[in-house]
Amino acid sequence: MAHMDAMADASDDPGFDPEAVLRFYADNGIDTVEGEAPSDFFGWPEGAPRLKRPEPAPAPEPAPKASGPRPVTAADAPMPTAEATALAERLAAGSATIPELAEAIGGFDGCALKAGARQAVVYDGIPGAPLLVMGEAPGRDEDREGKPFVGRSGLLLDRMLESIGCSRREGDGLTDACISNAIFWRPPGNRNPTKAEIAVCLPFMRRFIELSRPKVLLLTGNVPTQALFADAKGITRSRGVWRDYETSGGSVPALPIFHPAFLLRQPARKRLAWRDLLEARAKLLDG
Ligand code: URA
Repeated sequence: MAHMDAMADASDDPGFDPEAVLRFYADNGIDTVEGEAPSDFFGWPEGAPRLKRPEPAPAPEPAPKASGPRPVTAADAPMPTAEATALAERLAAGSATIPELAEAIGGFDGCALKAGARQAVVYDGIPGAPLLVMGEAPGRDEDREGKPFVGRSGLLLDRMLESIGCSRREGDGLTDACISNAIFWRPPGNRNPTKAEIAVCLPFMRRFIELSRPKVLLLTGNVPTQALFADAKGITRSRGVWRDYETSGGSVPALPIFHPAFLLRQPARKRLAWRDLLEARAKLLDG
């Protein structure tokens, strides 16, 4: 591709900053290397299968004059946050089961992150389990597999849960767990989700908890903690302190804990995480 050739030439330039180029790619959601050399998929060698340049889209039909509200479609994106949040609230309230809610999330076009993600990542584990863990947002591996916490931090999360006798796998003799996220589409380059993205996903997160009716809710990191408790301080101060999360079906004990990705970077904090996990275990065994 022309810009890649320009980049190869530029690498001879002493002022060339490869880290800045990589940062530019990461900021734009490009974080996967598919091969050693750049590929121009429009200029493939003779005889090799070719991608066709897409035909320009036909001009849209003029919208018919309608008396009622026009249906909202993906073509209208980005949907204003208030409108998208109201739509999410209606869809969440209309979902009577977790699979129905997952389907509603998958079909929802109000979150701008959807355009850059492969799929919605909703939950993994056993719906309705006594332990519900809420993470932040899917990363690259989760976006590929369609399940939360399947990468390195997912492995650590599984070990943390197993250490207190819980598991997202059915039938392994441990207490059932279910895992979901505050955000259902991967933010590009794994950046932090914006306030608007969190607000738009929040009705689904709330409904997920309401339908799950867990005995204990673990909130990993700032995003799920501050999404549910607007007054929560940063995770270093909020972790380990029980909060009551109110749902239409009653109050759920919620415990903010360090995010496993943070623990991978700061293993010395595992001691505090272990303390929090023991708290969660005691609450699960309570009554
Ligand atoms: N981190 C999260 O918070 N959620 C995931 O699903 C994966 C990593």
